[in-house]
Amino acid sequence: MAEPTRKILTRPALNKAKTRTGKEQLKPKAPEPETLPIKADSLAFSLVGAAQTVAYVLDGIALPQALSRVFTQTDASPQARGAIQDISYRTMRQVGRVDALIAAMTTKAPEPPLLYGLLCCALTLLITENTDEAPYDDFVVVDQAVNAAASSPNMVFAKGMVNAVLRRFLREKDELLTMVVKQAAARWNYPQWWVDQCKSAYPQDWQQLLSAADTPPPMTLRVNQRLSSIENYLLLLKQAQIEASQIGPSAIRLHKALQVQNIPGFAQGMVSVQDAGAQLAAVLLDVQDGHKVLDACAAPGGKTGHILELAKVDLLALDVDAKRLDKIHDNLARLQLFATIKEGDASWSNWWDGQQFDRILADVPCTASGVVRRHPDIRWLRRKTDAAQLAVTSSRILDNLWRMLKPGGKLLLVTCSIWPIESENQAKAFAERHAAIRLDAPGQLLPTSEINNEHDGLFYALFQKPEV
Ligand SMILES: C[S@@+](CC[C@H](N)C(=O)[O-])C[C@H]1O[C@@H](n2cnc3c(N)ncnc32)[C@H](O)[C@@H]1O
Repeated sequence: MAEPTRKILTRPALNKAKTRTGKEQLKPKAPEPETLPIKADSLAFSLVGAAQTVAYVLDGIALPQALSRVFTQTDASPQARGAIQDISYRTMRQVGRVDALIAAMTTKAPEPPLLYGLLCCALTLLITENTDEAPYDDFVVVDQAVNAAASSPNMVFAKGMVNAVLRRFLREKDELLTMVVKQAAARWNYPQWWVDQCKSAYPQDWQQLLSAADTPPPMTLRVNQRLSSIENYLLLLKQAQIEASQIGPSAIRLHKALQVQNIPGFAQGMVSVQDAGAQLAAVLLDVQDGHKVLDACAAPGGKTGHILELAKVDLLALDVDAKRLDKIHDNLARLQLFATIKEGDASWSNWWDGQQFDRILADVPCTASGVVRRHPDIRWLRRKTDAAQLAVTSSRILDNLWRMLKPGGKLLLVTCSIWPIESENQAKAFAERHAAIRLDAPGQLLPTSEINNEHDGLFYALFQKPEV
């Protein structure tokens, strides 16, 4: 990302050109346009940051990592970081539509990726509703996008094009939008294969399911009932003038999202941030004091913490990703709870001491297609073949874990996917392979409507091992 307040000077370069006689001669090249400085508190600055973030994501980097890369490359203030994040998230929800708009208004794909990212971000601001947090008028957006282009040596050549495209969009907005939404990717803001797959898996609900991801998700807390009752915590929120509603046995939805440091009692472990659907896992697992429990794919430890809040168990939290184990440590330290935390591959046994478990939570790796409203980049990062590949990995994990379960013990399969190949089909095939008893569990949860949007798209299947 360009440094905002430093003027980047360019010098006329010399390039080599052939003369008519074939001799090489040094010929002065036309001077490159000078870049213009922008202020670090301007929308132009945030647009450059968001454009770079979008360019990283479209190059395959997950949105949170893309944002932290941009933040380390620039000295953005907390306000500017907030704006960059907001614009980047909004843009990720509109990539299908703005891509089609750019294609309709340009003769070739804008290069470099930063310039394409800038057009995506600016068009997103022009087509989405303004909010209190982002009150940008159309002409401010155009002006600031042109300044953003002018501030970067990689985009300055295209500032006229940015101006022309955005002004044309404002003049022909209705016609252009009517035209592009005829394409499924632009209508729904997902890759075409995702729309097709969703239609075939959910012939009744596919439209609601796709549009449910247009809105930002609710921020839901889980009250640590070891430290507070839900009634007392609601009172605490009321005293802090934070509006909230109870939506589950331990779940409270905040009416407006907050930074965790502003949530009463968060640092002391009184609450955790966890989707209401995800809060079902520890309850379904039916943990009792004294149980030996395995959380087989545990990081970052959201469900680990909940299990430990519900019962005094001997818990092994396993994850194959050593870097993510620190997050389990941090989460449990904040909640003042303890588990043995180990690096290990759940499809192997080299970490296992041979003692069978009473309960196993298998929150297996999946496409995360059920949490697209929280992670709007996922739909652009996944490939059509990912679900089948991940289902193979997960079935290996499940088969390995089954022999580690005591007779009469319970294993809970969880995915945050909406694709049957990773969820219901997987559960059916697993039950057949092992003659596992299938107990009552919600199956596929879908965030499909305004009323039914309190949880993410999760899948639960609960199995019991027959007594010998
Ligand atoms: C959906 S996340 C788990 C979320 C976690 N249960 C929670 O509630 O916070 C899946 C986790 O599985 C881990 N994982 C992937 N393959 C694994 C394997 N073969 N063995 C153990 N963990 C694995 C990933 O590193 C990731 O942390």
